[in-house]
Amino acid sequence: MKFFIDTANLDEIRKFKAMGLLDGVTTNPSLVAKEGKEFRPLIAEICEIVQGPVSAEVVATEADQMVAEAKELASISKHVVVKLPTIREGIKALARCVEAGIKVNMTLIFQPVQALIVAKVGAAYASPFLGRLDDISQDSMDMLAEIREIYDNYHFSTQILAASLRHPLHVAQAARIGADVATIPPAVFDKLLDHPLTAIGLEKFLADWKKGKG
Ligand code: G3P
Repeated sequence: MKFFIDTANLDEIRKFKAMGLLDGVTTNPSLVAKEGKEFRPLIAEICEIVQGPVSAEVVATEADQMVAEAKELASISKHVVVKLPTIREGIKALARCVEAGIKVNMTLIFQPVQALIVAKVGAAYASPFLGRLDDISQDSMDMLAEIREIYDNYHFSTQILAASLRHPLHVAQAARIGADVATIPPAVFDKLLDHPLTAIGLEKFLADWKKGKG
């Protein structure tokens, strides 16, 4: 499973890059707005740091404008993956981006049939939002498993990018189901390695070592 970080914060990106854990980055308009920086240079800097897929989202909602924005974003770096919303105009824009050789991550997926459609049209990534579905009491893992089954049935090469992850369990469950990528917010990334017994065990080892050395 590939690990992407779901943030536009450069310090967080550098931190997890240093741990050798980072395969890519996803951003969205909300995450970029939080940083208060200019969009294009920020994406360029993220690409420079990560040297892997970096999702940057369009804000247009009409296909012609989406494609224009997509071309502009794709020109920033070979690492940019353009993010388009899974709406009718987004599907039209996806078809044109695929034709133009632009890699696309289709976002805001909440049901398996949306994932089927974006794969048919040629998306590089499909992003089901797990946490937001759980928030409205629908089992996100059922959706994820159905998407995996559909993609396997037809050997689609579109990668399933599990998004809107809220806790380490989401990451583990998505891995069991076979999501290709997990995009993990920094706060969740931080929790992945923590277990109280790991900390207690290490403390005891070090205390015993000190005692043994007299
Ligand atoms: O980047 C898309 C997605 O991961 C957003 O997550 O927590 O805002 O539902 P969240």
